[in-house]
Amino acid sequence: MACEGISLRIIASFILGVVATLTLMVFHQTSNFDGDKSLEKLSFSNETVSTVSGFVSAVEEGCRRPRDIIMTSVNWACAKPDSLLDIFLQSFWTGEKIDHFLNHLLIVAFDPQAFERCKLVHHYCYQLKVDVDFTAPQEFLSKGYIELVWGKIELQRYILEEGYNVLFTDVDILWFRNPFKIITVYADMATSCDKYWGDPDAIYNWANTGFYYVKSSNKTIQMMRYWLDARNRFPPHHEQNIFNQIKPDLVDALGLNIQFVDQKYFGSFCEFSSDLNKICTMHANCCVNGLDAKIHDMRNLMEYWKNYTALPKEEKNKGWFTWTKPGHCKIPDN
Ligand SMILES: *[C@@H]1O[C@H](CO)[C@@H](O)[C@H](O)[C@H]1NC(C)=O
Ligand SMILES: *[C@@H]1O[C@H](CO)[C@@H](O)[C@H](O)[C@H]1NC(C)=O
Ligand SMILES: *[C@@H]1O[C@H](CO)[C@@H](O)[C@H](O)[C@H]1NC(C)=O
Repeated sequence: MACEGISLRIIASFILGVVATLTLMVFHQTSNFDGDKSLEKLSFSNETVSTVSGFVSAVEEGCRRPRDIIMTSVNWACAKPDSLLDIFLQSFWTGEKIDHFLNHLLIVAFDPQAFERCKLVHHYCYQLKVDVDFTAPQEFLSKGYIELVWGKIELQRYILEEGYNVLFTDVDILWFRNPFKIITVYADMATSCDKYWGDPDAIYNWANTGFYYVKSSNKTIQMMRYWLDARNRFPPHHEQNIFNQIKPDLVDALGLNIQFVDQKYFGSFCEFSSDLNKICTMHANCCVNGLDAKIHDMRNLMEYWKNYTALPKEEKNKGWFTWTKPGHCKIPDN
């Protein structure tokens, strides 16, 4: 997950005030995009239609890959100044010709503070709200968080139904190169991995749903419904665990083509990949000692990346320039 070890108290206090079903607060900030500057409150099922359509039409105007929506999610701990969101956004500017993807990026905020901060730094921000009824604070926190995580999947389903592809990226992922270069045309879904065993089609690879792409089709819409429904058949958990449980069903029953992507391209701190000529994205996961360590190590990789990009092409191609493993993050042994 993107933001381990973060206080969820902020989320908790805001969820308490919310009633009824899943609702979305949408802020549609405009500049060179179309019209309306208002802050709207919309219910998820119906009125999201107009809101998401507004967003995607803006995306279509500005972009070369019009049907792809990139989504990330943040709470205040990730979104506050000098935290993960700032580094994440910066990586689009320091990466190899990938800044135009910012026009496709939808940031889903989990709390009002994150939403406010988002609006200062980005065009497209949505506030996701869920209704959770609790008494005990401990239970409340974890349950509230899980609700939000599933709300995010629900929103993705909706976007797929509207005919748009979704690339979900955790906010603790650095972008270096265009990940679409790696995703094959036959894939209904492409996902990064916690464990990659060498065969991109092998169902036993362990998906990491911190970074995945889903192409809009009837098959993938069914997949999202199945994923959401599966939630009730397993003990309460994050979407990733449940996804890994239902993978065989998705392949067998729906005929879904899942592409598991090598960590060489979609990297992670868990199994660190050191080839800067190949890397597209790097996930600062498996960092068990908190947000500060994570931020430190992400910044550090950015420094390496800047030095790498300053090299002449021939030197890059020789492949001698590499980076060292994250130093502050404690990576769990497995
Ligand atoms: C949602 O849309 C349906 C028709 O599509 C309409 O009957 C219903 O009143 C709408 N709900 C809200 C809350 O506007
Ligand atoms: C889904 O299937 C229906 C008919 O079953 C078809 O009309 C529609 O175009 C399909 N949509 C997509 C996105 O493939
Ligand atoms: C980047 O290059 C500068 C200048 O040569 C050097 O001082 C710095 O240590 C390098 N940083 C990394 C992370 O390689």
